[in-house]
Amino acid sequence: MMKTKRIVIRDVRHPQDEELAEAAGVLRKGGLVAFPTETVYGLGGNALDEEAAKKIYAAKGRPSDNPLIAHISCMEELTPLVKEIPPAGKILAKAFWPGPLTLIFPKSGTVPYTTTGGLDTVAVRMPADPVARKLIRLAKVPVAAPSANTSGRPSPTTADHVQQDMEGKIQYIIDGGPVGIGLESTIVDVSGPVPTILRPGAVTLEMLNGLLGQVRVDPAISGPMTEGMRPKAPGMKYKHYAPRGELTLVALKAETLKCLYTPGSRLYGEVSRMMADRGKNWKLDPESFYMAWKVNELAAEKEREGKRTGIIGTDETIDEYTAAIKRSVGKRENAGSIAHNLYAVLREFDDLGVEYIYSESFAHDHLGSAIMNRLNKAAGYRIIEV
Ligand code: TXA
Ligand code: MG
Repeated sequence: MMKTKRIVIRDVRHPQDEELAEAAGVLRKGGLVAFPTETVYGLGGNALDEEAAKKIYAAKGRPSDNPLIAHISCMEELTPLVKEIPPAGKILAKAFWPGPLTLIFPKSGTVPYTTTGGLDTVAVRMPADPVARKLIRLAKVPVAAPSANTSGRPSPTTADHVQQDMEGKIQYIIDGGPVGIGLESTIVDVSGPVPTILRPGAVTLEMLNGLLGQVRVDPAISGPMTEGMRPKAPGMKYKHYAPRGELTLVALKAETLKCLYTPGSRLYGEVSRMMADRGKNWKLDPESFYMAWKVNELAAEKEREGKRTGIIGTDETIDEYTAAIKRSVGKRENAGSIAHNLYAVLREFDDLGVEYIYSESFAHDHLGSAIMNRLNKAAGYRIIEV
C-alpha cells in the first residue's frame, strides 16, 4: 500500500501552480493522480506511457480492453494524438471545448494501444474545470483519465468518494470540492462518416443536432445489450454500475398520463379527489402525485416483507413518501440538480445496505437522456410501468 496524499485546492476557480506542481510531476513520471473535472473525478496517468495506463487499469480493477480518455488542456495538444481531425470534430471541438464532450478520432502512432484498449481510435477531451486544465498543462503530457471509481461503483463526484475507492492505490487526490455536472461526458465518435453519440451527457443530442446535419445515436445507449450487439464504446458492454440493492424504476404508461388529464376518467376522479383532500397548498402536478403514490405502494410492500427498502424521490415529492429510507435526488423541474446528485445518492444507498430501491423516472430528453441512461443501467433496465 502506498500513502495517498490529499491536496485541498484553496480557490477552485484560481488554482495556483505551486498547489499542483508536485502532482503534475508525479503524472509526468508515470504515477497516478485523481483530480476533479466538471463532470466527475478522473483517475489520471500519462496517456503516452504504457506502464501508467496499466497502473490505471489495476487501480480501478478494470478490464484492459476498455479504453481510456486522453485529457488535454489546449488545441495544440490534440494534433500529436490524432491522425486527422474530421470536419465534424473541428465543429464540435470549437463549439464545446473546453467542456463535457469527448470526441473519438483516428489515433496517431504516438498513442499506445494500451491506452486505447487495442483500438485504432483515441478518445480525447478538453475539460473546462480550471484545476484539471492547470494540472494537465503543468504535467506537459496528455492525461489518460477514466472516472476515479473502482470498476462497478458509481463515478465519484467528491474527493471523499475517490478516497473511499482509491486510498492506498494512488499517489495524490486533488480535492477541488464537489463537481458541477455529476455525470460523465457525452462521447461522440467523429471517426466515421456519420457523427455518432456513444454515451449521452451534458452536451445533449438537441445541442449536437443544432450544429451538425446528421447525428446517430448508438443503439447500445437506449436499451439493454442484446445478443450480437457490438457497442462502439467498449465500456458499454461491461456490466455497468449496479447498486448493491435491487433498483427498480417506476414510470407512467402513456395511457395513464392520458387518463390523468381526461376529466371523466376513473383515474382523473380518484386523483382529483385525493388532491382536493390535501387542501389549497397542494403543489404537486397529477403525474408526480400518481408516481409517488405508486412508488410508495411498491416500497411499502417490500417493507412489509421485512426488507430494507429505499426510495429515490425529488424535492417536489419527497414529503409524500412514508418509507424509512428516502432521499431526494434533486428538483424534478431542474434536471441539472438531479444529474448533480444522482451518483452520491446511489453511493449512499450502498453504504446504508439498502436491499430494494424504488426510483421515480424522468423525461428522456435533453439532460434527461443522460440521467435515464445511467439510471436504466443501474437498474439493469428493470422498470415497472404503472
Ligand atoms: O466525463 C468523463 O468522460 C470522465 C472524466 C474523468 O473526464 N471520464 C470517464 O472515463 O468517464 P471512463 O473511462 O469512465 O469512460 C470512458 C468511456 C468508456 O465507456 C470507454 O469504453 C469509452 O469511453 N471509450 C474510450 N475510448 C474509446 C474509443 N477509442 N472508442 C470508443 N469508446 C471509447
Ligand atoms: Mg467510468
